[in-house]
Amino acid sequence: MNASYHLEEITHWYGERQVLSVAQLQIRSGEILALVGPSGAGKSTLLRLLNFLEWPTGGRLYFGDHLVTPALSLEQKRRVVGVFQRPGLLHRSVVANIGYGVQLRGRVPDPSLLQQWLDRLGLGPLAQQAAAKLSAGEGQRVALARALIIQPDVLLLDEPTANLDPYNVGLIEQIVREEQAQRKMTVVWVTHDLFQARRVAHRVALMVGGQIVEVGEREAFFNRPQSEVAAAFLRGELVYG
Ligand SMILES: Nc1ncnc2c1ncn2[C@@H]1O[C@H](COP(=O)(O)OP(=O)(O)O)[C@@H](O)[C@H]1O
Ligand SMILES: [Mg+2]
Repeated sequence: MNASYHLEEITHWYGERQVLSVAQLQIRSGEILALVGPSGAGKSTLLRLLNFLEWPTGGRLYFGDHLVTPALSLEQKRRVVGVFQRPGLLHRSVVANIGYGVQLRGRVPDPSLLQQWLDRLGLGPLAQQAAAKLSAGEGQRVALARALIIQPDVLLLDEPTANLDPYNVGLIEQIVREEQAQRKMTVVWVTHDLFQARRVAHRVALMVGGQIVEVGEREAFFNRPQSEVAAAFLRGELVYG
């Protein structure tokens, strides 16, 4: 499978408002694609479509060979996990939260695997602590462990490090990159931080006004933007759809 996702003529509407209009986009299997763009561009909406939380109003979205509809099988849906700006943890211990996705899939979390993930994310001493008491950075590390322990084929990240301190940003970037390099999972990483996009991505897509206005390999995107809107965005100017 070369393409993890393929979008054709995708539109999405909220009531009377059109928020997405993506003529064509391929998300390659095993790549880290950074999705950047101004606030309100539609990045989170696109990620929700890729996460099968909403269905496009129009057009065709393929996940591998599967046309995505509400009838998409649970088996396919379970290949994808997301981590968002807020961790969305249960009022349980750290370790219970990390094992939660495994449990949802009808399995008992392996204690040694839980311990590995606790250690990898520096959460060992916090294993039995109530998740509600965690700092923002600790909470996001728990959310990432909960997602990665499942070994998803696709990881969708919606600004998971916004508002975190540099130590936590660095740790989360490092773990995602290590895991991606080892298992070749596909990652779509929404970020408003261009430096982060440059650190983590293989390719970068710029979304403005609900449209993907430019997609390129990382260095080409940053050094030789093809469109005036991408060049303006990289210069830090306000761009509109
Ligand atoms: N559930 C919703 N209902 C109505 N409008 C929405 C909803 N979610 C997002 N929007 C609108 O869609 C547009 C794109 O939002 P969003 O995808 O969150 O952008 P981004 O993540 O790029 O900041 C915005 O104008 C936003 O107000
Ligand atoms: Mg958003």
